[in-house]
Amino acid sequence: MKILVTGGLGFIGSHTVVELQNEGFEVVIIDNLSNTTEKVIDGIVAITGKKPIFEKMDLRDKADVKDFFARHSDVSGVIHFAASKAVGESVENPLLYYENNINTLVYLLQELSQKPEAQFIFSSSCTVYGQAEEMPITEDASVQPAISPYGNTKQIGEEIIRDTAKVTNVNAILLRYFNPIGSHPSAEIGELPIGVPQNLVPFITQTGMGLREKLSVFGDDYPTIDGTCIRDYIHVVDLAKAHVVALQRLIGNKNEQKVETFNVGTGTGSTVLEVINTFEKVSGKKLPYQIVGRREGDVITAYANTDKANNVLGWKAQSTLEDGLASAWKWEQKIRS
Ligand code: WQD
Repeated sequence: MKILVTGGLGFIGSHTVVELQNEGFEVVIIDNLSNTTEKVIDGIVAITGKKPIFEKMDLRDKADVKDFFARHSDVSGVIHFAASKAVGESVENPLLYYENNINTLVYLLQELSQKPEAQFIFSSSCTVYGQAEEMPITEDASVQPAISPYGNTKQIGEEIIRDTAKVTNVNAILLRYFNPIGSHPSAEIGELPIGVPQNLVPFITQTGMGLREKLSVFGDDYPTIDGTCIRDYIHVVDLAKAHVVALQRLIGNKNEQKVETFNVGTGTGSTVLEVINTFEKVSGKKLPYQIVGRREGDVITAYANTDKANNVLGWKAQSTLEDGLASAWKWEQKIRS
């Protein structure tokens, strides 16, 4: 089967392309290269020996999307990663986020809903929960009003998909990611460093390499074991595999509803200081950091209840925080060598 992966040259997208190829799927990638480079294809080929079809395209161009599906009429399975994902940037430039994250979703669904059947896997985020009342977070935890336009586009995206699936032949699975980290063990693909990292782990690995003077820890006065925020850090290869399992579920008509939602995390929470300590252990480096003020919009704690993913989807994270940090460090050293 030929599967479209939008944003397939991005961090999670490229790891998912590898896992799809490992499962024998033919992959066509659409990417506008706004946050990645075409060289990522070389990394994918180095791992799997198979070159995916790549089309440089911007999904904001409705006519181009229509033309793509006319040329690839055998595509009925789509894994949709292409979106803008920087929380802070979304606050500064909301219309960029609503155009790029919502319009593109609508154009894809307009094409898929013309087909006799279609499978759609959507990249959602635990950010939709805001600060959930109960830990670990289950899929039926209430969706809180979004604290950023980025988070809002994920909530709106989920609603658009639910409304569309009700009246078309589109079946969908929404994957709510926790915090993706790490890179493929081969270090052929990983998180590309573009600009100053907003996320914790790439900032840590760049600090470990001496590219950053020190890590700023955004607050240590939270009501947690050591005062720093808790997150569920999931290895990107585990996350990628969850997409393939979800797609196979829909292809095999195993889904129990037209739209199913799964939290994709490890089920374990780690504080920022625990991540720092674990990085020091796996790298043998002392990480310079300083405690600074809290970051606007941070939730205190977020980690997944993975029962539904484990028992219904049939997927379970295999890697630990240590594995994720060790692979992130290996990747950072490789790209700086
Ligand atoms: C993790 C923890 C920070 C950087 C975001 C998005 C989410 C998803 C993943 C897209 C927090 C602390 C961070 C730093 C720090 N993105 N931190 N110093 O905010 O949990 O999630 O990225 O899908 O939607 O919301 O991830 O890595 O930015 O932060 O102390 O330099 O590390 O305060 O507690 P976050 P993060």
